[in-house]
Amino acid sequence: VSADDVGPIPGETSTGSKRAEALFGGRAGPRRMVASQGCRVWDEAGRAYLDFGMALGAVALGYGHPVVAGAVARAAASGGVSSLPPVQEQELAERLLAWVPGAEAVRFLKTGAEAVAAAVRLARVVTGREAVLTCGYHGWLDWCQESPGVPLADRALQRALRFNDLADLDAALAETPPPAAIVIEPVVEDPPDKAWLVALRARASAAGAALVYDEIKTGIRFGPGGAAARYGVSPDLVVLGKALGNGQPIAAVVGPAAILEAATRTWISSTLATETVALGAALAVLDTCERSDALGRLRAAGARWLAGCGGIVERHPRVVRAARGVPEFSFLRFADAAVSADVAAGAAARGLLVRRGPYNFVSAAHDERAIALGLERLEEAVVAVEAGCS
Ligand SMILES: Cc1ncc(COP(=O)(O)O)c(C=O)c1O
Repeated sequence: VSADDVGPIPGETSTGSKRAEALFGGRAGPRRMVASQGCRVWDEAGRAYLDFGMALGAVALGYGHPVVAGAVARAAASGGVSSLPPVQEQELAERLLAWVPGAEAVRFLKTGAEAVAAAVRLARVVTGREAVLTCGYHGWLDWCQESPGVPLADRALQRALRFNDLADLDAALAETPPPAAIVIEPVVEDPPDKAWLVALRARASAAGAALVYDEIKTGIRFGPGGAAARYGVSPDLVVLGKALGNGQPIAAVVGPAAILEAATRTWISSTLATETVALGAALAVLDTCERSDALGRLRAAGARWLAGCGGIVERHPRVVRAARGVPEFSFLRFADAAVSADVAAGAAARGLLVRRGPYNFVSAAHDERAIALGLERLEEAVVAVEAGCS
């Protein structure tokens, strides 16, 4: 393999889901962005796109949100880091407790993967156990991956659960040693069945395992209380990321003091976990969500988008088979991968960025006009692909 084959960035970009192949399946499409604002993105050629990816859900208030951007600029201008932990860390921890009912303590990290790994580490310290049950995507780190390079010993400690599948939960508990934690995404393609969440809660408590909600996608977006408030079943630990920083890198593990204190008995530490730019961004996000109806607007926009996608499914079932998800993030199930690539590329040619699979995200910056325009362009792309279908 030569450097020419690989290029300066193996895999083209450091975020797998932003690869051209992932976005457009080998069809033509914009490659790199130069700016983003509100719900729009500009590419290297200066073309504007209406965006329904929203940085893989990392942005809920809109790109370049003025309150967040102001906080970011102020924090950067005041140095951003020092040899002491900053006051913003303490302030954000106290403010976040109000967003996670029953929580008493917080640890900050930079990425979602790190924060979920920290939650698992804490559960392992508290329980003295190693096995973990998972459901959904929890990041790229060894504890939850099966890709090449992950030691077999790590893989053997993890068993993936099927979403909303009670029988599989019981089978997993029967075939693995008592787990330290059961880590789930509350929404994987569909909302959770209440009975499944109730069973997870009961089985975790009975087994002495920590129930962890990986709320990297649902957190903040779902409003105070997150998935527990929406679906009526509370976990032990909540992990937040993505929307918390509205594009700045910050993630958090939130929960009871009895579990978080384990952070003092193991080693969870990162040099830049306490820089003030992302902490300041997160404080601005909470301010904005608490003082305005930004999250209500986001949900309403998402409901309009999802309903509109449902209409497209009804009118063009040969191209799009289903529209699934929750208002805040949803996706289209296409007839096949080639069709999805054609639609995504056709949409991009019409100035619209939609993802081929899970998930499309809306933001508070998606007003009614943006949703209507997005649906119109999406349907045009679908119609063009349908015309080519035999
Ligand atoms: C549910 C969930 N958990 C964890 C992660 C990993 O977060 P990050 O990519 O910030 O490490 C993601 C990222 O998409 C996610 O959606």
